[in-house]
Amino acid sequence: MDSVYFDHAATTPVDKEVLDAMLPFFTKLYGNANSAHQFGRDCKVAIEDSRELIAKLIGAEPSEIIFTSGGTESDNAILKGVFCALSKAGKTEIITSSIEHHAVIHPAEALKRDGAVITYLQPDSNGVIHPEQVREAISDKTAIVSLMHVNNEIGSINPIKEIASVCREMNVPFHSDTVQSVGKIAVNVKDLGLDALSISAHKIYGPKGIGVLYIKNGTPWIPWLQGGSQERRRRGGTSNVAGIVGMTKALELSIKELDSYTNHYKELRNAAITGLNKRFEGKYVINGPAEAGVPHILNIGFKPGDKNALDGEMLLLNLDIEGICVSNGSACTSGAMEPSHVLDGIGTEHAIGSSSIRISFGKQNTVEEVNFFIEKLDGILERMMATVS
Ligand SMILES: Cc1ncc(COP(=O)(O)O)c(C=O)c1O
Repeated sequence: MDSVYFDHAATTPVDKEVLDAMLPFFTKLYGNANSAHQFGRDCKVAIEDSRELIAKLIGAEPSEIIFTSGGTESDNAILKGVFCALSKAGKTEIITSSIEHHAVIHPAEALKRDGAVITYLQPDSNGVIHPEQVREAISDKTAIVSLMHVNNEIGSINPIKEIASVCREMNVPFHSDTVQSVGKIAVNVKDLGLDALSISAHKIYGPKGIGVLYIKNGTPWIPWLQGGSQERRRRGGTSNVAGIVGMTKALELSIKELDSYTNHYKELRNAAITGLNKRFEGKYVINGPAEAGVPHILNIGFKPGDKNALDGEMLLLNLDIEGICVSNGSACTSGAMEPSHVLDGIGTEHAIGSSSIRISFGKQNTVEEVNFFIEKLDGILERMMATVS
């Protein structure tokens, strides 16, 4: 069997249709969208058509869509921009959670230098933040609440609509990192009541290095990247026309295909869990929600039966040798494998967290690949467990 790629939460291949839509913008329509001549105008039209379509797909106004370089920039831009707009008025508190992506946690931490106070809400054992926690945490100093829609490591889904409703009631802007939810579950800013969200194209079969920051008109925000007049002076920098066109096609396709691929991922997940139960009953656990999360992300950890932990990094390397690509749920800290901040945040037992791997399915994966993975995992675990017990 060829290599098996089970790491779609990290990134996805570019769809053929997406690539086809992008190609003319590298060689024929290569103008700078800010130029007044026809090469520039053609690109400008492509960008504005894309903006309109993206806005329609997520229920926003075109003027509320800002093109960025991806999820990390969008997350940085919203936290830093809202903080900058509100901190002088004494709103210096940022409320987020302990299991956000580092694209939210690290800018929040960096803002401490400018006087920000960060409140980290703790999720339940399934990785979910509850609206009452948000209500209790908000004070008259809160500048923004930022909570992700779907967690990238364990696939948990936050009740974003209910959380947004609390924030609206308490008059605090609410941002959600929807990088892992857009194109996988329904995301409509009006239905959800969001003030801001972040999108990244490369998670939905689009190109890398392009994303969206949606900001509802009227949200207090100061642009954080100055330069040219692009994006109505809200984000300087020559527009990535091919990326924007590709992302728009990717978003369109992912929303169109959402239901059929959700069923496909459920089928793959069921096959994986059936195989895991058959071979490793009692020796593995699902980290995060077993059922209530997104079906394409499955995070599992192993317990050999005594206090020694299996090394997740070794497990990943052994799978890689067999041609199977997954990602780990642990990170190397001071020379030892430690559970990731997400697994730690949901209270995963240390030995399980250190041995955890994340499997994330994509459109091209098959049940045969899942069965191949289970078979190889069996042999690898047998060898590894023999050395730790
Ligand atoms: C939840 C989440 N937010 C943000 C990002 C960062 O997105 P990008 O790679 O486009 O910067 C990722 C990517 O892993 C993610 O999973």
